Amino acid sequence: MAEQGSQTRPLHRSRLAAANRPRALRYAHIVGWGMEVPSQVLTNSDLEAIVDTNDEWITTRTGIKERRIAEQRETTTSLATRAAQKALDVADMLPSAIDLIIVATATPEYIFPSTASMVQDYLGATNAGAFDLSAACSGFVYALDMAASKIRTGEIDTAVVIGAETLSRVVDWADRGTCILFGDGAGAVVLQGSDIPGGILSSVLRSDGSGWDMLTLPTVSSRDTYLQDGKHEMHRIYMDGKGVFRFATRIIGDSIKAALEQVGLTPDDLTLVIPHQANQRIIEYAAKSLKIPEERVYSNIARYGNTSAASIPLALAEVAERELIKPGDILAFVGFGGGLSWAAMIVEWSAMPARTAYSLTWGRRQGEYALAWLRRPLVRLWRRLMLLTPPAIIRRLRQRAGLAAEDTIETEPPRSRPAQEDTPPDSAS
Ligand code: UT7
Repeated sequence: MAEQGSQTRPLHRSRLAAANRPRALRYAHIVGWGMEVPSQVLTNSDLEAIVDTNDEWITTRTGIKERRIAEQRETTTSLATRAAQKALDVADMLPSAIDLIIVATATPEYIFPSTASMVQDYLGATNAGAFDLSAACSGFVYALDMAASKIRTGEIDTAVVIGAETLSRVVDWADRGTCILFGDGAGAVVLQGSDIPGGILSSVLRSDGSGWDMLTLPTVSSRDTYLQDGKHEMHRIYMDGKGVFRFATRIIGDSIKAALEQVGLTPDDLTLVIPHQANQRIIEYAAKSLKIPEERVYSNIARYGNTSAASIPLALAEVAERELIKPGDILAFVGFGGGLSWAAMIVEWSAMPARTAYSLTWGRRQGEYALAWLRRPLVRLWRRLMLLTPPAIIRRLRQRAGLAAEDTIETEPPRSRPAQEDTPPDSAS
């Protein structure tokens, strides 16, 4: 937590805010989980045909045997949506009940709109806010913490948090130091508020921006500033592997211990650590630095490689699906990567192993997906019609429908502001 006493200016005391004070403190529980990976498998021996490498080097240096690669029709959004649908099945919840969707990703389809907004549309989550979160491989834990915080204050009740990547599209397939590492996939959880204690207990979010250039994926405005050095390329991952390895082993144990301390626990209390799957040697180092047996640190890197923000939710979905954890177990998540950034979180697992996949809600959920599918072209068509229809006719139609005059939809583009308003202030002056 930041140092106390950081408030230096006196504050106005609002009388209005008291009326909108959040409810009593709640707990954020993970009640649903799901994962989606492409079916296309790329093995280490397949990679031997692409770069100068071999199965023995990759296995001993990273622990990876194979990874999944998205086919053309598969995107970050499609993987994220499927993972979220599976998580909603487990939670037995309707898309319309979701208040917030956060997608942690380093490979969004667009810089904007957010992948989360597209997922929101595909799910038909018509009551949800949606945004993407950029914290590279730490992104899922950051996103989970953001959603849990809003649930704990009582501002929202239900959130879907997703980690999703199609890293195969931004890997430099000529760089054997990185292309052998990454894979595609998505994992999602449903978070729900409750008065029952448990769920997300604590977290530690950190960044060391001085290492920003150790792991990069340049986009739009970085061209002029540093793409001239020959090492970095637009929309291609660059990594100083050794440097990031040293950083990861330095923070992995300490950050988990710091998150445990917040709730008066020690590494001995941990049932399972689910670390970001970057390298089997880093995963083993986590066990060593926490002084716990290696079996208590989950690894599936052999099958999926490094899927960045997706790796922790993907591993969690596997663990929960295989019922390797039970209510009351203490879990630690730890993510680390570009930024440099890292994040650790302690969770008391609380979901009972109830199977409700074919409940009544299942049918209603399918209905909401179908409605979303139908709604999409209709809403687009409606928007077009509104643009073509003269404002006077729209006003008359709306009046006839009993809508207030102030509700009139703006059909004319706003007048452009004077040019100087859009010019950012000159930082040099
Ligand atoms: O997800 C974000 C966080 N990411 C991480 O935490 C990744 C951290 N870094 C790592 O996992 C490791 O540094 C790597 C797996 C990326 C690399 O392993 P390393 O043991 O650090 O290897 P290195 O880069 O030091 O390379 C050692 C040797 C070099 O050859 P020379 O110069 O010693 O002759 C490389 O050229 O291995 C060579 N090499 C390879 N050989 C066969 C590098 N990549 C390969 C390869 N196949 N794919």
